[in-house]
Amino acid sequence: MEKTLVLIKPDAFSKGHLGDILKRYEDEGFKVIAAKVMQMDEKLAASHYAEHIGKPYYENLVEFMTSGPLMALVLGGENVIKRVREINGATNPAQAAEGTIRKMYAESGSKNAVHASDSPESAAREIKIFFSELEMFGG
Ligand code: CDP
Ligand code: MG
Repeated sequence: MEKTLVLIKPDAFSKGHLGDILKRYEDEGFKVIAAKVMQMDEKLAASHYAEHIGKPYYENLVEFMTSGPLMALVLGGENVIKRVREINGATNPAQAAEGTIRKMYAESGSKNAVHASDSPESAAREIKIFFSELEMFGG
């Protein structure tokens, strides 16, 4: 089964949108293979967002992502990597299509509610950062 790494980011988590967002993914037919509530530290954020180190928004991004608890998820299903990116919507909610999670719940192009892997290579790399084999079920 194809798998992707999703983060329900600290903004959506603290505003109480966890259940709504999780339900949306389940309603789309995706399976929860792993899930945990956790707080990222700077090292984990640097590893997850390695390709963004040095970008003008990087420091803010790490500050935001480490600011409070989030939920990390592995979702599985047919075409899950591409489909979850579509359901999440454009990075900046001002550009996100109606009905997407970012359109509904994101507050800015930085505090944008959710993360999802963008390719099979990213998914494999990111899943390993957050979960061990023993924490994954049904994948
Ligand atoms: O998350 P996504 O793959 O849609 O976007 P990205 O371009 O890979 O950027 C990763 C994350 O960095 C975004 O989701 C934003 O939280 C943040 N970002 C930002 O704060 N300002 C930008 N100009 C671009 C990205
Ligand atoms: Mg990205």
